Amino acid sequence: MNKVDIIQSEAQVMVQTYKRPEVVFTHGKGCYLYDSDGQAYLDFAAGIAVNALGHADPEWVQVVREQAGLLTHVSNLYHTAPQVQLAQRLVDNSFADRVFFCNSGTEANEAALKFARKWAKKEEGRGKREEGEEGDASHSAFRNSKSKIVAFSGGFHGRSYGSLSVTHKAQYREPFAPLLPGVTFAPFNDLEAAAEAIDGQTCAVIVEPVQGEGGVNPARFEFLPWLRQLCDQHNALLIFDEVQCGLGRSGKLWAHELYGVTPDMMTLAKPLANGLPIGAVLVTERVAAVLQPGDHGSTFAGGPLVCRAAEVVFDRINQPAFLDDMAAKGQYLKELLWQLPMGQVTAVRGAGLLVGVELNRPVAPIIAAARAKGLILINAGENVLRLAPPLIVTREEIETAVAIIKECLIDDSKS
Ligand SMILES: Cc1ncc(COP(=O)(O)O)c(C=O)c1O
Repeated sequence: MNKVDIIQSEAQVMVQTYKRPEVVFTHGKGCYLYDSDGQAYLDFAAGIAVNALGHADPEWVQVVREQAGLLTHVSNLYHTAPQVQLAQRLVDNSFADRVFFCNSGTEANEAALKFARKWAKKEEGRGKREEGEEGDASHSAFRNSKSKIVAFSGGFHGRSYGSLSVTHKAQYREPFAPLLPGVTFAPFNDLEAAAEAIDGQTCAVIVEPVQGEGGVNPARFEFLPWLRQLCDQHNALLIFDEVQCGLGRSGKLWAHELYGVTPDMMTLAKPLANGLPIGAVLVTERVAAVLQPGDHGSTFAGGPLVCRAAEVVFDRINQPAFLDDMAAKGQYLKELLWQLPMGQVTAVRGAGLLVGVELNRPVAPIIAAARAKGLILINAGENVLRLAPPLIVTREEIETAVAIIKECLIDDSKS
């Protein structure tokens, strides 16, 4: 199919949930994408913070090819080595004791919310029994009393019902109401409001250490330790959604390392297999202890192909030298961005290679102009450019990207 046919057919045969520019990508290499006309684009979106190792990484390609020739899928009815090898790496290098695999970010959050609700039911049952009251937590009289989930303004956790219910943007939620009951939103980074929202009825608090979709907003330094304290005080679980900011993108292996606190559960997805679909929930033993066979599951999750691909990604990122270099490149990117014409640029923020450039105007025209000049950018809200290049981006590529953004801003200010 040629470019025109593809674009016209898409409009006819696809459910129109995406608004796409008139570009058809055919292949990629490193930090570059190529379209059907042979045009090269520097990719500062990385498939929405996914392609951490860039496109067509030779080792990743070789391992995926080998594994595809051996075994792609057998379902979770059977043991396979890559799944356990990946889980071992995640457990060895985090707060977690155990891992549950799924296929996407929304599924990871969905699972975390389910785990929290089950954990809370058990906790509540234990509490009631200790107080000498009758029955266990599954008894209807006690059902839902410790079921509240606290989420935050600007938070994005996915599109399936549970994850959507804790996603803040009304435009995403309202057309699909009624949603999961028991969700309370508090203002992000507001310590007092968090203290009001989190109480004895709370079973879980879900938060992105660095918000992605919501405008690239890092949590205030004291915010996450404060949430940890409130969760401990009220016996609630703290869930960090590191689907976008985790696995190196913040400059640390886990974004929460920047804050010196650990959660009870952490969700991962986007970069974990460099573009193959995977999600994971990392949990402590006290959460895992309430889960038993049949509680949750997935046909595809944690298959040998995707897990072998993820092993390659994890091993490459989980190197002190890689992470240090990446953090330094993130700092360099911000320094260059700070030199952009202030006035148009009202803020530069983020962590590592997840950087937001807030403008005093909508960013859509800048994104279109940058694409015409061979740079792929995405937004995070109406006024924020989101820069999330592959983690392997070079300093020269960073300089090229910032030079193009500067040209676009200058052109835009003249129009
Ligand atoms: C922080 C965060 N959580 C969850 C999700 C949902 O992930 P997915 O699109 O893989 O379902 C996203 C996607 O952008 C995200 O940024």
